Amino acid sequence: MASVTLEKLNKTFGHEHIIKDVDLKVGNGEFVVFVGPSGCGKSTLLRLIAGLESISDGELRIADDVVNDLPPRERGVGMVFQSYALYPHMTVYENMAFGLKLAKMAKQTVDERVMATARILQLEDLLHRKPKELSGGQRQRVAMGRAMAREPRILLFDEPLSNLDASLRVQMRNEIARLHHRLGSTMIYVTHDQVEAMTLADKIVVLRDGRIEQVGSPQTLYQQPLTKFVAGFIGSPTMNFMPAELLGGNEEGCRVRAPGLGELSLPQDASGQPAGAELSLGVRPEHLRLAEADGDNRFEIVNVEYLGNEVYVYLEPRVGDTLLIHRSEAPSRWELGQRVALVPELEHVHLFDAEERALEIASGRRAA
Ligand SMILES: Nc1ncnc2c1ncn2[C@@H]1O[C@H](COP(=O)(O)OP(=O)(O)O)[C@@H](O)[C@H]1O
Ligand SMILES: [Mg+2]
Repeated sequence: MASVTLEKLNKTFGHEHIIKDVDLKVGNGEFVVFVGPSGCGKSTLLRLIAGLESISDGELRIADDVVNDLPPRERGVGMVFQSYALYPHMTVYENMAFGLKLAKMAKQTVDERVMATARILQLEDLLHRKPKELSGGQRQRVAMGRAMAREPRILLFDEPLSNLDASLRVQMRNEIARLHHRLGSTMIYVTHDQVEAMTLADKIVVLRDGRIEQVGSPQTLYQQPLTKFVAGFIGSPTMNFMPAELLGGNEEGCRVRAPGLGELSLPQDASGQPAGAELSLGVRPEHLRLAEADGDNRFEIVNVEYLGNEVYVYLEPRVGDTLLIHRSEAPSRWELGQRVALVPELEHVHLFDAEERALEIASGRRAA
């Protein structure tokens, strides 16, 4: 187990600047997830930590050691990839033992390590099988076992579940979470899937175009996104956004007008914005309530999705390109074709300025 510290880490490939001034502290035993859209630099950042790519600028420390120039095998990291890359002609046991034998470990130590790892991952009954005789989930567990058997100081995962079908993914996600509870080892996990990030992480790092957009607990990112990008990336169905005009405001709150919502008094501090500023208003589907017959029923229900435990209601006219979504517990009283008014829960409304940065809630007006 060890902490990992990144200071002003940069990576360039030729003229392409891919990782930009990344500062991050991963605590001892913490489960940190890097999340962001495809191509934002998640794998590159992980490979910099593993030592599979050279660092262009900045400092990387594992525990108290600067490891910038250490080769991968001397960093004490284990890595699990999306493609398991197991040796097809070797058994599960041999796959897990291979790296240890290469490191010239005594036969008995190798055996103890492999057996202990197999016990943790419930692979004991499969040790004699070849990879082709295993299910996708079992193969993924062997790949994890191979990394864990070396007893690394840090375990790194790069989209390890992307090749599995949906139900297996949920099951393996759960197994990885429990593994972390049991081992308490430091883990860094890359995914483009915000549900995986939300469910696994102690701390989520949202990356965008090679920079850290926001770091925080799943709850912090969901409730207090600092940018419109994070607000839209975290949460499913995604947050509703609509344009809003700032009518006036000070340090204690503000008034905005949004098409379809009318005038709203909100708890955001808008003192840094000029009156008339064009803002973006965000409200999550569960915070966008519907009401009938209040004189301004300008939205029409164009689709109702029943999911068993909850219902998603889609509304027109569109705002920009997207349909607004209301979400509530099932059963729902809303029906296709009904005309409704929108009633956002004001304490859960977000406002973003022209630079897409969230306006802060006025001090003293934060919702409990
Ligand atoms: N070896 C490389 N040479 C040049 N460009 C690379 C290399 N590896 C990654 N990149 C580029 O760096 C960017 C980030 O890639 P990557 O870290 O794989 O993204 P992610 O894992 O978030 O999808 C992409 O634009 C990719 O094309
Ligand atoms: Mg990747």
